Amino acid sequence: MKLKHFLRKPVWFFRGEIDAARLKKVFPEDFFSKNLLQPDEYQQLKPVYDRYIKDVSSKEMAVSWQTSCFLYAAAKTRDCKKILDLGSGFSSYLFRAYAINSRNGAGIYSVDDNDFWLEKTRTFLTEHEMPVDQLSTLSDFDQQNKSGFDLIFHDLGSMATRAELLSFAISLLEPGGMLVLDDMHKTRYRSVAAGKVKKAGLCLYSIRKYTLDELGRFAEIATSYNEMDA
Ligand SMILES: C[S@@+](CC[C@H](N)C(=O)[O-])C[C@H]1O[C@@H](n2cnc3c(N)ncnc32)[C@H](O)[C@@H]1O
Repeated sequence: MKLKHFLRKPVWFFRGEIDAARLKKVFPEDFFSKNLLQPDEYQQLKPVYDRYIKDVSSKEMAVSWQTSCFLYAAAKTRDCKKILDLGSGFSSYLFRAYAINSRNGAGIYSVDDNDFWLEKTRTFLTEHEMPVDQLSTLSDFDQQNKSGFDLIFHDLGSMATRAELLSFAISLLEPGGMLVLDDMHKTRYRSVAAGKVKKAGLCLYSIRKYTLDELGRFAEIATSYNEMDA
């Protein structure tokens, strides 16, 4: 085994710990130290998640439960009003549940580059009595010229497509908004993503501490906030 591979997990671990401390300076809401999901919302969301990975998608393809909890807590604590869900699926349900529970009129936009999975999401949302407006194909969404999102979850398509679309996703983020990049355990994708985030002048923070799942997956955050300015 190459030294690089051997060191990978300790490096991820320490980056996660260091970035957890850095993030506390960046986001004063300090949602990291609280329970990431309140018990009443857990009761509502977890059975739906379990059903989604069993009947519609799979554990490997759906967002992890850990990242779902993080996204919900982030949206709730920061009172997000305009959320972009790039890569439809359980995340589309989660953000709609947040918008309904928060009663803050949050707009949720879900996008997919795959018509089959977009329709699967539409059916799942309908079965769970969730709104299905603002579900779009990537090309339709592109023509809508939307921007200024305060939370973006970037989890769309293949890893190659995702890397290609990252600069587009960054361009849609409002200053101070939070871009959550899933699957950052994939080293080749992470390296491309880190380069694009840096080029755009954003900072990258690992949220491995909060999002690591049984499959070894975790997410990271890109934001224009810098802990040096906090
Ligand atoms: C990682 S998935 C997105 C997961 C989604 N955000 C969720 O919360 O479930 C990335 C892409 O794979 C496709 N996809 C979703 N579920 C799938 C499955 N079970 N098998 C194959 N492709 C899938 C969709 O086109 C989606 O954009």
